[in-house]
Amino acid sequence: MNSISTTIILLVSLPASLFVLHTRSEDAKLNFTELGMKYGHSVEEHDVVTEDGYILTLFHIPGDTKGPLLLMHGLFDSADTFIIRGNLSFIITLANKGYDVWAGNTRGNKYGRRHKYLDPDAGPKFWDFSFHEAGYYDLAALIDFILESTGEQSIKTIGHSQGTAIHFVLLSTRPEYNEKIKGFIALAPIAFLNNLIPPVSTVAKKWQVINKFLKASGMDELLRDHSAALDLIQLLCSQGLIGYDVCYVLISSPIFGFDPERIEPDFWEVIMGHFPTSTSRRSLVHFAQVSDKKRFAQYDYGTVRNFREYKQLIPPSYNLEKVTTKISLIAGENDNLSRLKDVDILRTVLPKEPKYHVMEPILWNHVDFTCANDMDVYLYPYIFSSLQDFE
Ligand SMILES: *[C@@H]1O[C@H](CO)[C@@H](O)[C@H](O)[C@H]1NC(C)=O
Ligand SMILES: *[C@@H]1O[C@H](CO)[C@@H](O)[C@H](O)[C@H]1NC(C)=O
Ligand SMILES: *[C@@H]1O[C@H](CO)[C@@H](O)[C@H](O)[C@H]1NC(C)=O
Repeated sequence: MNSISTTIILLVSLPASLFVLHTRSEDAKLNFTELGMKYGHSVEEHDVVTEDGYILTLFHIPGDTKGPLLLMHGLFDSADTFIIRGNLSFIITLANKGYDVWAGNTRGNKYGRRHKYLDPDAGPKFWDFSFHEAGYYDLAALIDFILESTGEQSIKTIGHSQGTAIHFVLLSTRPEYNEKIKGFIALAPIAFLNNLIPPVSTVAKKWQVINKFLKASGMDELLRDHSAALDLIQLLCSQGLIGYDVCYVLISSPIFGFDPERIEPDFWEVIMGHFPTSTSRRSLVHFAQVSDKKRFAQYDYGTVRNFREYKQLIPPSYNLEKVTTKISLIAGENDNLSRLKDVDILRTVLPKEPKYHVMEPILWNHVDFTCANDMDVYLYPYIFSSLQDFE
């Protein structure tokens, strides 16, 4: 073969092989609504506007046998997390059983990057929020929208990670929502972060330096979707076993826990099509503050703005005494973000004793709660029994 024909073959086959690589897993590319269709359900998309003007996509798969059920995702995540396992996923499983399923999004993620008059691409104003606002405004607006459109008095909810923290924020700061939430299942519960371990705890302790750096670099939004950097990360992390070994084993596992049997390489590619998604610098910093100060408290702006916002120099703690709705906490021993010791603190502070379950498989961790390939065996039985208890 002469060099000209080799060159031609290379030129023709290189883009083709890249194309094949990129499209290996179809589910990595489909959005929530398209995934719903693929797995047999038509999805409604609603725009919910919060009191302070953020516009959030709320997905709905109508069902008529049981009352409304809302699912709320974690940090750097979106409603997608509950559907990317397809037939095995929370959303499809619940929809198949006839539940009236709703999946919300919080401000700043790819389905919540809109506002009535603030432009997310024009400076820091849009991004001036943490998980506090996601609880106080977003969760409240989503619940009210669902109650209004269904005519129901109350709703059942499921949260994962930050999706649980926003519940504790809302239920403690606007206690009237205890009446509107009939029962709440907390997967990988996050409130106290007193017992984090390295590498996460090491980074959290440096929140002041990190915050200053990000702020000075103009990074009020983190991990913007379709930014050149995030596209490159997601592309590299999707490349077969190398992407898996580097991104899942070396980078993700020290943070979320390691469980290769439940997150297999092919599915890791699907995750990389949906995660991470954008959030604000302040959301991340707020969690770091909670960990560093060992207090589940509001955002620390520094004394001057603290006084303006709170009329006191130190941010107030969330008063969990006010959280009176029925709660089911489900935790994993190998979850290094929602640590059992911290869930124990939460259990002692909640005024009504919650139902509590520690997952049986020893490697069960933070990601497994929405993505494990055997959720139907190990997790869903507790979900359905908790939902039953809320009746
Ligand atoms: C999902 O993709 C479809 C196109 O296939 C589009 O019509 C729809 O608006 C998308 N939904 C969201 C929320 O982006
Ligand atoms: C999902 O499950 C249904 C019912 O078991 C089946 O008919 C369908 O082919 C499955 N869908 C996919 C995409 O695997
Ligand atoms: C999670 O923490 C435990 C100690 O509690 C440790 O043995 C384990 O290696 C950690 N997992 C990861 C992936 O770092």
